[in-house]
Amino acid sequence: MPASVRTNASHAASPDALGAPSQADLLDFAGRTAADARLVASLPLDPHGRTWIRLEGPGGGEAWLIGWPPGSGTGWHDHGGSHGAFAVASGDLTEQSLAARLPTEGWKLLELADGIDRERLLADGDGRAFGPHHVHQVLNASRERHAISVHAYYPPLPMMRRYSRSGQVLRLEAVEWAREWS
Ligand SMILES: [Fe+2]
Repeated sequence: MPASVRTNASHAASPDALGAPSQADLLDFAGRTAADARLVASLPLDPHGRTWIRLEGPGGGEAWLIGWPPGSGTGWHDHGGSHGAFAVASGDLTEQSLAARLPTEGWKLLELADGIDRERLLADGDGRAFGPHHVHQVLNASRERHAISVHAYYPPLPMMRRYSRSGQVLRLEAVEWAREWS
């Protein structure tokens, strides 16, 4: 094995060795934070758009408390290689995701195979964790009720890729860097 490969392998192992939060750790954090009634009540709500408060995530991670008015959503996106978790504090959120690992670079249009769409409804108290290649959109499909949720990521999001979707065709629309939203 070439020396450079050994170096890369030991580097790749280092985040766990340093105690970086796992998906389970992030989900635990999101769930506990979503259960903090005083914190959740401190989030201003706007009927016309999402609102948020940035939080300190576990182990140097990034976290957000987010308010979702009825009908609001994220659009399709990934998380720039970070893993993460989210938990619902009140209301319901719908997550639509792709059960396939997509290539992250080298394409602008991708035709998705049939059968890779997943949808789940997360109610008050529910949460879910995801890996570094997860592509999804999250929305509040309610017509009258706000939703509030907590999201945590590790490492802090370096960037996000945003996609549009037409049928089975996914198009890369934009790459957003952390400096644009922090
Ligand atoms: Fe996301």
